Amino acid sequence: MAQIIDGKKISSDVKMMVAKEAKALTQKGINICLAVVIVGDDPASRVYVNSKKKACELVGFESREFALDKNTTEQELLNLVDKLNADDTVNGILVQLPLPKQIDENKIIERISPLKDVDAFHASNVGKIMIGDYNFLPCTPSGCMDLIKSTGVKITGKNAVVVGRSNIVGKPMAMLLLHESATVTICHSKTKDLAKACKEADILVAAVGVPKLIKGDMIKEGAVVIDVGMNRLEDGKLCGDVDFESAKEVAGYITPVPGGVGPMTIATLMRNTLTAAKIQNGITE
Ligand code: GUN
Repeated sequence: MAQIIDGKKISSDVKMMVAKEAKALTQKGINICLAVVIVGDDPASRVYVNSKKKACELVGFESREFALDKNTTEQELLNLVDKLNADDTVNGILVQLPLPKQIDENKIIERISPLKDVDAFHASNVGKIMIGDYNFLPCTPSGCMDLIKSTGVKITGKNAVVVGRSNIVGKPMAMLLLHESATVTICHSKTKDLAKACKEADILVAAVGVPKLIKGDMIKEGAVVIDVGMNRLEDGKLCGDVDFESAKEVAGYITPVPGGVGPMTIATLMRNTLTAAKIQNGITE
């Protein structure tokens, strides 16, 4: 029976640490501000944005929301990004994805100043992660690493399997595991025998967006299983990419959904925003 990895508790510790540092900066006259941009009325995006604003309040940051109409043009959004880049009172810029069809996401991401790119989505930040010399780590993979490390299981030399190859999660996740000297396999929709690959994993990260894809019989005895999935079922309930009920019988450690990776993503965003503010104010420690 697996031990449950408590993402709520671990994320709360991270946020407390951020709040403490933010308070010390405020006492020096440095206020931290995250600009949160949402375009359109996607209900899931609204939930995420509200959680991010709430976390800002908790750690003592200002959050400034820019809620734009779903028909906003690419140029209008680029203009807003330019304005936020130039605004010295804004430390971090988060443009919630996905964006409506008429807007090229890449163009927007590339316009955000890399020093304010608290998602670490800009090509220059992605490149820095590749070479292992970075200011910001992408929020979800970084949160997953914290959860893996919380188990005390050594990563060096282990087989790590990442299911999913998105730019936001799968690819950077694989890179962070590689930096920790895991032997990393990336699986995706064209992988021939997913079950066989997963069964080799000492550390398994599922980030594909397919409800309950990973069953207990695909998991190695004692593995660390990290479930990034956030799938909304027809009955309104949230479920992960891992079939929790069967997986928990086999895994050594497992994250629940909700209460696993989700809260860590937001805590890492707070940590990145703090880092951005420190860099912009010339604070190096
Ligand atoms: N949409 C889903 N996840 C994310 C994220 O981590 N950052 C942003 N900006 N949008 C998202």
